[in-house]
Amino acid sequence: MKAVCLLLCLGLARHIAGSIFERRPILERFGEPLENIHKKVHQFKDKLDKFLPVQRVTEIPYSHVQEQKQYDYPQQHVPKLLGKLPGESLQYLDGYYQQHPRVQREYSKVHSSEYDETLQTSKRSSSSESSGEHRPEDMYMPPVYADENMTAQMMKKPVEAPHGDAIEFQGIKMALGPHSQIKKKEQIEKLFADAQMSMKHIDEDSQKTFHKMYELAVQKEDEDVYFNATQLLKKYGYPVEEHTIQTGDGYYLTVFRIMKYTARRTRSVASKGVVLLMHGLYGSADDWLLMGPEYSLAYLLADEGYEVWLGNVRGNKYGRQHVSKHPAQKDFWQFSVDEIARVDLPSLIDYVLQITGQKKLYYVGYDQGTTAFFAMASTMPEYGDKIIKMYAMAPMVYMSHVRSPMVRMIAPTSDLHEQLSPYFMDGEFHPSKELLKTLGGEMCEKEIGCRKICSNLNFVMSGVNLEHMEPAQIPMITGHLPAGGSTRQIKQYSQSFASREFRMYDHGAKINKKMYGSVQPPVYDVSKIQTPVVLYYSEEDWLSHPKDVERLHRELPNVTEYYKVPEGYFAHMDYQHYKKAPEMVYTRLIKSMNSSS
Ligand SMILES: *[C@@H]1O[C@H](CO)[C@@H](O)[C@H](O)[C@H]1NC(C)=O
Ligand SMILES: *[C@@H]1O[C@H](CO)[C@@H](O)[C@H](O)[C@H]1NC(C)=O
Ligand SMILES: *[C@@H]1O[C@H](CO)[C@@H](O)[C@H](O)[C@H]1NC(C)=O
Repeated sequence: MKAVCLLLCLGLARHIAGSIFERRPILERFGEPLENIHKKVHQFKDKLDKFLPVQRVTEIPYSHVQEQKQYDYPQQHVPKLLGKLPGESLQYLDGYYQQHPRVQREYSKVHSSEYDETLQTSKRSSSSESSGEHRPEDMYMPPVYADENMTAQMMKKPVEAPHGDAIEFQGIKMALGPHSQIKKKEQIEKLFADAQMSMKHIDEDSQKTFHKMYELAVQKEDEDVYFNATQLLKKYGYPVEEHTIQTGDGYYLTVFRIMKYTARRTRSVASKGVVLLMHGLYGSADDWLLMGPEYSLAYLLADEGYEVWLGNVRGNKYGRQHVSKHPAQKDFWQFSVDEIARVDLPSLIDYVLQITGQKKLYYVGYDQGTTAFFAMASTMPEYGDKIIKMYAMAPMVYMSHVRSPMVRMIAPTSDLHEQLSPYFMDGEFHPSKELLKTLGGEMCEKEIGCRKICSNLNFVMSGVNLEHMEPAQIPMITGHLPAGGSTRQIKQYSQSFASREFRMYDHGAKINKKMYGSVQPPVYDVSKIQTPVVLYYSEEDWLSHPKDVERLHRELPNVTEYYKVPEGYFAHMDYQHYKKAPEMVYTRLIKSMNSSS
């Protein structure tokens, strides 16, 4: 009897583990016929053994008080689903449930939440009300495949070009989505041309040299590529503590504390103050460490005598646990930058102040780390008051002039919006290689000549200046980025591009009314922020355009410094990955901090 159970249970466990780890390969083939996916799922089963141990989820103790608990998460939900849909994995459900009514029904029986239902109802009704007029409040609704028959046909038909016909311009091939009705090719051309213009072009020989050096760097198998923040800090002699906090809505976030006395300094150096570093979109605490002790900001601040805390937000590699939700569930990913601003940042700030016994701290934000701060400080002035000074690197508040093709292409006003929206359904943002190619990867490849770089979300989204990147640094970056997040995060930025305002997440008119009491989402009013702010920006940044930063500067009442990085083609990612970042930005930042403490 026991033996039978053992076999059965092992089989089930294997199935579940399989479900978790098949996620990527299946989503990468998103758009393939269903039969092919089934075949691949079964082929994959053979490889599952080595993944088995990981199905056990460890619940991180909160503030060192809770007992460490372990539980086998998926067993609560998966068997039910599997029973109903034999052979179909959870990932299959995740990827397809929005498109496939049968799956949708089964899925919602298990994961039903009121919110989901509102969303579905609202989608249905908004699609049935047809209106020839331009109705911005309804623009963000993804397309609905109204009849089951059509969906079934779509899934059955072998799709030769999953992203539709490709158009080509300037030697760059671009796919347009399955039901493309693109007429304005010029618009798309302009979009890519704008991005290309703000990129430093390098010749083919340099591309080849770079690629060779990159290949060598990859072969070196540097352990740092796989190390987490704790391991990196320990390796380089910086005492570190891991703290895990629980947010008010149940997410566990790990924060790293670099102690005020480092191996390089003696214990007697008094702390000059506490600094919280907040990473960018789809990034993590690691990003502040990737260039090593000579160059990365976290080390430099610790050397200077500051107590440094590296924050993380929900959904990244250090924020993938929750009291009741699992990342395999769509529920886990129902958050945008709003929740990060409203819940994560205040939790982090309060926790850091409590542990360090301080009243105020310095805040350094990069990219999304700035967005979330400005959203928080404009709505919760009491948190703005807890900040001595806010340092904003590549501030992303107004996005009207954003150059990143990815952000522009998924914007609700984009011609491509409808074609692309099935790939941006609520959930974890895990774009397939195919999709990344469409969103700018092709252009990236042409400019850079390195497929590995151009299949990376962060490079495609943020742009890159190859001349500023050391080949050896690339495996380090791709080893740590992207660190995970939800589709809503990037969608919120593309909504800002379309609306030209700094607003809360737009759920579409119906849900907006329910959630915010207004058809349009409320605006974050940055003119209310009293916190002293320092703004660092650069001319060619793909995401943080000088004109948008200028507007932010105009509206913020307390900007103490407004500084353009004095280097041509200083790209968005250069703030954290260019060896001249200390010279261009960090030294200045530290000097400013020293003079205000
Ligand atoms: C479903 O699609 C088939 C093939 O196009 C068509 O013949 C049939 O009438 C459709 N059924 C419904 C209910 O729309
Ligand atoms: C980092 O890695 C070390 C060594 O594998 C591990 O003990 C630690 O739990 C990891 N920390 C986090 C936050 O993942
Ligand atoms: C700017 O910040 C400083 C320091 O917190 C504060 O004393 C001052 O009142 C602020 N000014 C404005 C206009 O908010």
